[in-house]
Amino acid sequence: MHLFFTPNREFEKMKQYKVGLVGIGAVGTEMIKVLRQRQFPASEIRVLATRERDEVIAGETFHVLETKPESFEGLDIVLFAGTEGSKGASKMWGKVATDKGAFVIDNGDDFRMHDDVPLVIPEINADDMEAMIRKGSRFIANPNCSTIITLMGIAALHRVNPLRHMTAVTFQSVSGAGRAAIEELGTQMKQVANGEATEPKAFAHQIVANVIPQIGGPKPEMPGFTTEEAKLTFESRKILGAPNLRIACTCVRVPVFYAHSIAVHATFERPFTVEEVREIIRKAPGVELVDDLPSAVYPMPKDFGGKDNVGIGRIRIDPSEENGIALWCSGDNIRKGAALNAVQIAEELIKRELV
Ligand SMILES: NC(=O)c1ccc[n+]([C@@H]2O[C@H](COP(=O)([O-])OP(=O)(O)OC[C@H]3O[C@@H](n4cnc5c(N)ncnc54)[C@H](OP(=O)(O)O)[C@@H]3O)[C@@H](O)[C@H]2O)c1
Repeated sequence: MHLFFTPNREFEKMKQYKVGLVGIGAVGTEMIKVLRQRQFPASEIRVLATRERDEVIAGETFHVLETKPESFEGLDIVLFAGTEGSKGASKMWGKVATDKGAFVIDNGDDFRMHDDVPLVIPEINADDMEAMIRKGSRFIANPNCSTIITLMGIAALHRVNPLRHMTAVTFQSVSGAGRAAIEELGTQMKQVANGEATEPKAFAHQIVANVIPQIGGPKPEMPGFTTEEAKLTFESRKILGAPNLRIACTCVRVPVFYAHSIAVHATFERPFTVEEVREIIRKAPGVELVDDLPSAVYPMPKDFGGKDNVGIGRIRIDPSEENGIALWCSGDNIRKGAALNAVQIAEELIKRELV
């Protein structure tokens, strides 16, 4: 049994698409909500995971099917929200889906840096995606959540005044590590409040009343850095089309449920004034200026969890670097950092008549 989307009147005449979704954890669940909220023209949403069962999402029951080659039959677009690695969904099923004729939009890290895979933030590089698809690519990658949230404001500035160098420190919520990690923060909050011992499983250390300066394992190609830090580095270069961009970052897990925050220091070819930066951010799509330090107004995860826009504030001149700017951003890692960005890519495929 599959559930079918009943389009409202506005969408009645629009072409409808058969959409597959592989993985129904933190990101997959949010993808269903985003598809419904944006009234995506889907005649079918076929949900696949490791085993068959029913899942209730935002009051709607989905019959989840075990993923098999025949599960991809007839689908136009498949959103992948499964775990990464050799036993993960995209490595096991990504090629099967494209061979069956579907476009794949993958949330994981397995293929992001492949030359023939567009790595896309629609507000930034949808034209690059279109050019690659017209040359035959059918597999599209969604960037890492911290990369997306960091670049939403920085790319808008880079379009006006080329970026020369960037350092970033991330404050990443536990939802970035999936459904089990969200549950672990809730459990540990109660345990710590009751004076009980905690038993870390999703993270190497207790996350409550703590911050963990490690996300991912060591990255041998970048001695001293982690895999998450390497993602932010290499993906930013690819998305901005700036292969020699100097970037360094430290990625930190914090005891926050939803929304990642990033402190960014960046230098540009020419100097910016604070007012110029604010004006660019005010006009850029997908971002929101939240910047009034004397009134204690800046983006915070408690306000940007659940929101589509990335908030940007604490904009100031960085006096430690020539042409330097510092800023702070917060954005929902599950929405703009994953599910929303993937659905926006699918919408872009439709808008540009690529699918
Ligand atoms: N969380 C974030 O903020 C975030 C942001 C950006 C990107 N991502 C990426 O998005 C992906 C999903 O993350 P998540 O946080 O939603 O993970 P999650 O909560 O752990 O959920 C993973 C889902 O993938 C399914 N799955 C795993 N291996 C599969 C396979 N071989 N075939 C079919 N289904 C499989 C699981 O099925 P069962 O339910 O049957 O076990 C589960 O539904 C990951 O690649 C992650 O790196 C996450």
